[in-house]
Amino acid sequence: MNKITVFESIHKFMIYRDSLKADLKIGFVPTMGALHGGHAELIKRSSQENDLTVLSIFVNPTQFSNSDDLKKYPRTWESDIKVAETSGADIVLAPNFEEAYPDNYKFKLSENEFSLILCGAHRPGHFDGVLTVVMKLLQIVNPNRAYFGEKDFQQLKLIQDMTAALFLRTQIVACATRREEDGLAMSSRNVRLSPEGRKKAPLLYKALLEYSDFAEAKNFLNSHGIEVEYFEQHFSRRFIAAMIDGVRLIDNVKI
Ligand code: PAJ
Repeated sequence: MNKITVFESIHKFMIYRDSLKADLKIGFVPTMGALHGGHAELIKRSSQENDLTVLSIFVNPTQFSNSDDLKKYPRTWESDIKVAETSGADIVLAPNFEEAYPDNYKFKLSENEFSLILCGAHRPGHFDGVLTVVMKLLQIVNPNRAYFGEKDFQQLKLIQDMTAALFLRTQIVACATRREEDGLAMSSRNVRLSPEGRKKAPLLYKALLEYSDFAEAKNFLNSHGIEVEYFEQHFSRRFIAAMIDGVRLIDNVKI
């Protein structure tokens, strides 16, 4: 088990980062905390493939279009540190908003194609917030590799495209979606489901595997009281977003 060093100050972290030997391979796992098995998998992979793993925990306000969703986002610092330690992280970077946004979000990064469909169509400004914070974090950490989950495939693809467009030197590593035994994709939001909602939630994955038609999938899920936001195919993948108990869940599969 690793002993973790926590940095809240970006400035102090950057001094530490600059003191590391140039040939040390740095892996980076950006998260918003409330760590679960999916995050643990990314951290483990990074610790296997690199000399040092930096984990960031920052609930990024600029990517929430709904202030209630931001308020309700689970915060589980103590258990996060345990997951970080047992999964092999060495450093946790946990800045506050003022640290991460000295400009108060006057500067932002946007993409104007793929970011506007799927989640982007339903969460205005969401991907501007994601791309901006990921760009900041990549500049701060300057990792050799950064790990992202296919669970958020649209986010992963936008980050891959951003690193190519802006000639960033970090290699983006895609990691498979980790699921519960009943097929539900692990997510920090799952803890907000009622016991009843938790029982229904694996139906999203079932619909992705069994339906190709939007209307049929919608009928199937509606009949179980699940409200579908989108069910679409892009890049040989099928994507879904749906609301259960007022909790918004997303998933996708390769077809
Ligand atoms: P968060 O939702 O905490 O996710 C952090 C990383 O874990 C993302 O790359 C996400 O795709 C991955 N992940 C989440 N659930 C997973 C699962 N079941 N299997 C595999 N990987 C999974 O995504 C974000 O935070 C933020 O948008 C962030 C990139 C940190 C920017 O704020």
